[in-house]
Amino acid sequence: MDTTRFRSRRTANFTESVIREMTRLALQHKAINLAQGFPDFAAPDEIKTAAQQAIAADLNQYAITWGAPPLRQAIARKYRDWYKLDYDPEAEITVCCGATEGMIASLLAVADPGDEVIVFEPFYENYRPDALLAGAESRVVRLRAPDWTFDPVELRRAFSPRTKAIILNSPNNPTGKVFSAGELGQIAELCREFNVLAVTDEIYEHILYDGAAHIPIATLEGMRERTVLVNSMSKTFSVTGWRVGWVLAPPDITSSIRKVHDFLTVGAAAPLQYAGATALKAGREYYEHLSRDYAVRRDILLGALERAGFRCFRPRGAYYIMCDISDFGLGDDIAFTRHMIERVGVAPVPGSSFFADPADGAHIVRFCFPKRIETLQAAAERLAKL
Ligand SMILES: Cc1ncc(COP(=O)(O)O)c(C=O)c1O
Repeated sequence: MDTTRFRSRRTANFTESVIREMTRLALQHKAINLAQGFPDFAAPDEIKTAAQQAIAADLNQYAITWGAPPLRQAIARKYRDWYKLDYDPEAEITVCCGATEGMIASLLAVADPGDEVIVFEPFYENYRPDALLAGAESRVVRLRAPDWTFDPVELRRAFSPRTKAIILNSPNNPTGKVFSAGELGQIAELCREFNVLAVTDEIYEHILYDGAAHIPIATLEGMRERTVLVNSMSKTFSVTGWRVGWVLAPPDITSSIRKVHDFLTVGAAAPLQYAGATALKAGREYYEHLSRDYAVRRDILLGALERAGFRCFRPRGAYYIMCDISDFGLGDDIAFTRHMIERVGVAPVPGSSFFADPADGAHIVRFCFPKRIETLQAAAERLAKL
């Protein structure tokens, strides 16, 4: 049967996630999966116990669609304590199924067909399909190695009366860049001038190295009212499978986001939301520990990659390392990744999946390091064969 009629136009212009495809290929070849960014170590006992207790206490039915009150209150407290940002749990916080749902629900809530959404490139692969599904077009602005800075003139040129939002992911996947106060100031100025929203993905906010600091753009003058802040438990608490995230936005925008969220998913898993409220009570030492542990993992993988001949870009945040593979002479990023998976037994992600024009990422691969020290050491041994 010809099924063309049953494939919507809206799904025609993007492909399945390359990263998840590499995970499958890695499994098939028993390669160490440094492709998809999820921890292979245990989540904190305290929050696992909190989840078990919530289930035992029969918190097993739908929570309020925009989030169980204790979690929304815990989120509000966290942003007040850390950033002096006041969000009203009743009107400005929506709990959703991970940052993934938070981002797409936000774009569906704010963008119309014909609108443009600015995305920095290389990008996390969801943003452009998200914009597309919302009917908007994405415009890319290049971050340039080695510091992954943008050209302010190019950024200004990307803004127009059609621009509805700019997506900002800092600390950044895949580059490891942490946007500086100066860069955020330039972005904020353009948002104000062109009346544009900043939709931020701050999922790596607590994974920072070498003294880097995370600054939510919502803390900049005039930006709280034009920021939609997306975050999640996934990375901070090593629970990527829980699917609990949140969106902070002014009341009018929140009410649109809540409508989309309600019809997309009704809500995130109720007992895990209660466990989320426990998780967010963590003291500063939890977060410091998280960064310290990740710094050790980063240094192990960086060392192993450099010894194997990769030219690496040292990340200041998040848990990925971008590498230039031009020196190997093993073909483009896709051929190189296949070689790595099938012959070396370590799976990276081909760089082309982070660029609008695949040719721009053909000399790059990305490795991730949210892994046990033993896993990284095993990867290091295999990399030594390269
Ligand atoms: C930048 C970025 N945003 C969002 C996600 C997914 O977040 P969640 O698990 O909360 O849906 C990831 C996962 O790798 C990511 O790297």
